[in-house]
Amino acid sequence: MKVLDLAIVSDNKKFRHRANFLAQDFHFDYKAYSTVDNFFCDETYKLVTCVLLDCSFCKTSDDVLELTRDAKKVAKESYLIIVVGSMFTADTSNAVKEAGASLVLLENEFFSSSKTEFVLSQTIRSAFIPVKTCDLIEGTKVSFPLYHLMPANSRFLKVIKPGMKVRKDFLERYEPIGELYLRRESFNAWVKYSTNLAKEDELSVARLCRLRFLQLNHSFTILTLLIGDQSSGTSFNKGRQLYENVRELCGELLTALKGISDPWTIVNNSSIGDFGSLERAPAIAAYAGLLSLQAKIGDPEEVMIGALLADIGYLDLSPSTTFKIRNNDIQGLNAEELMEYRKHPIFSLNQCLNRKLPLSDSIKSIILQSHERTDQTGFPHKVRADKIAEEAMLVRLCWELDSKSQIRFGAIRAEIATLKEDLAHSAMKEKGNYSPEFLSKTLGVLQPRNSPIFS
Ligand SMILES: [Fe+2]
Repeated sequence: MKVLDLAIVSDNKKFRHRANFLAQDFHFDYKAYSTVDNFFCDETYKLVTCVLLDCSFCKTSDDVLELTRDAKKVAKESYLIIVVGSMFTADTSNAVKEAGASLVLLENEFFSSSKTEFVLSQTIRSAFIPVKTCDLIEGTKVSFPLYHLMPANSRFLKVIKPGMKVRKDFLERYEPIGELYLRRESFNAWVKYSTNLAKEDELSVARLCRLRFLQLNHSFTILTLLIGDQSSGTSFNKGRQLYENVRELCGELLTALKGISDPWTIVNNSSIGDFGSLERAPAIAAYAGLLSLQAKIGDPEEVMIGALLADIGYLDLSPSTTFKIRNNDIQGLNAEELMEYRKHPIFSLNQCLNRKLPLSDSIKSIILQSHERTDQTGFPHKVRADKIAEEAMLVRLCWELDSKSQIRFGAIRAEIATLKEDLAHSAMKEKGNYSPEFLSKTLGVLQPRNSPIFS
């Protein structure tokens, strides 16, 4: 019995083509079924992480509900995405969710936005969450299974079962590898395990930082899914609650980072994600919070929120645009795609305002101005240099730092101190990107005082 990342269920050629392309691009293990019966009768897989079920052909909402219930019966544990025709209303979506759908996408959203990319990458990629082997303590009992990612075939191998003790030989074997993986449903158990280990020493504080970082990642994903979900009449209260929760976690992460001698390293070693920069947002936010705190620019918590939300508009971009962004091919964008890409800060702000998130003026400026430059060659509004908020420049600087620090598969992880120094040098050399006042505040944090820049 095997695990399948994605089951695509549709008899529509165009639908399958879009879904297959996406599955291949993200290297998912997937299988396409041309009929629902074929999918329902396939017993090859023990678990299907995500099911993408095409219901756009259904004429009535009752037909959609029936198919959803049937799919839920055979795929109880799967994340079930139902794609419905654009004529369906919010009421139908709510009923479909009650029938077991995890998410309802409108047909036009499925074909022309990048929500599907984000949702699939989040649900399938984050089906397993990386944790540090050094965060396991010898002699403690775990209540969740842990997995090892086998590099040869990218498969997860269960290496510890619930109820087992963490033994010395186990740690000796897996500590050199550095990371083990949890299933997403074990996340709360991991939070409990780590919280119970809390002590005052530096190692425990570092463990707490990593935990807060994972929690922020987790909550931010849920918030993003909610902000991007236009199919249902999800209450604004729920959005606000989630937003407040993310805000609180930003504060807690910041507090935890303050207690550590080299917080930059913690963030660098905790970052995950590969969907353009949206999945990177929690790492960028953590860098931005630190830099805001240390360089005394803006309110660190607000800067973190701005950094988190700045690229949420990616969900509205067309699949061809996000495909190129994901593959670091901004140069390859055609005129139309480039225009669309340059509007993403506006899309981001609109997404938040549509959900009535209580954003301060400072957060709004960060979202709108994080791609503006002092030489007015940025986007979307080519704002005058003296009108660009320093907080927005700070977020862009951290975005650059994060791009440098991302671990490419097979590459050696660069030291964060070196990356910060490199960034300081390039920011100083390049005219027209950041204001001199902003650089004078941030360079001292990015690089030591005795560096040639300050001599
Ligand atoms: Fe952006």
